[in-house]
Amino acid sequence: MPDPSSVQSLFTDLAPSYDRYNRIFSLGLDTLWRKRLVQAMADRHPSTVLDVACGSGDVALALQKALPASKVTGLDFCGPLLAQAQARGLKTTVQGDALDLPFPDQSFSAVTLAFGLRNFSDRSKGLSEIARVLQPGGVFGLLEFSPPPMPWKIFWDLYLHRIMPSVAQLLTRQGDSFRYLAQSISKFPNQKNLTCELAIAGFQTNYFQTMAGGLVTLNFGRK
Ligand SMILES: C[S@@+](CC[C@H](N)C(=O)[O-])C[C@H]1O[C@@H](n2cnc3c(N)ncnc32)[C@H](O)[C@@H]1O
Repeated sequence: MPDPSSVQSLFTDLAPSYDRYNRIFSLGLDTLWRKRLVQAMADRHPSTVLDVACGSGDVALALQKALPASKVTGLDFCGPLLAQAQARGLKTTVQGDALDLPFPDQSFSAVTLAFGLRNFSDRSKGLSEIARVLQPGGVFGLLEFSPPPMPWKIFWDLYLHRIMPSVAQLLTRQGDSFRYLAQSISKFPNQKNLTCELAIAGFQTNYFQTMAGGLVTLNFGRK
């Protein structure tokens, strides 16, 4: 599991160009992946939403726009990314640790988490914190990279482990950060094991959808 202070400094270093790198290295697909999460959540009309590990605010801002009558809160432990979310118009931001959420039990009717879970130093603690702050029956939308199945695995392994870090090193001099991102995807549990982890934390997975040949999975669970 990744060390929290290294993860925090990695995202602080990437912050000034975080959105640009996302677009370039996801080959422009990340916007579409987040849209699926936001649309599926907006269709459920929650009144209060917490976007955990909100980064620069892509998901939280889209939720704020799609759900004008709801209160959307973005939480992250990386100050510079959170400042970007605020500057882009996210009304409620909280700097804090996803493994020790600074909210009372049952504070939210929905929680989203996009591309954050694989960076947590303790996944089960992160998931049980999300369950704690959700109201009974509340919805959890989780968007995360997943180890892709064959034959897509051949293409994505080549891209993530060879092409992306080399291009990143040339363009950004931060090849190591991208090597970490690639490794964190390979080490992430497959759908079967993730469903077990979600169940242990108190979620019933009632929906999941894979994208990009299985490289990304959207899970919807209910507490
Ligand atoms: C890959 S970024 C995803 C950001 C955003 N959700 C998005 O879709 O662009 C991962 C985020 O997780 C945050 N993060 C990782 N571990 C965290 C923790 N324990 N508490 C709060 N934020 C955390 C990082 O600071 C970073 O902003």
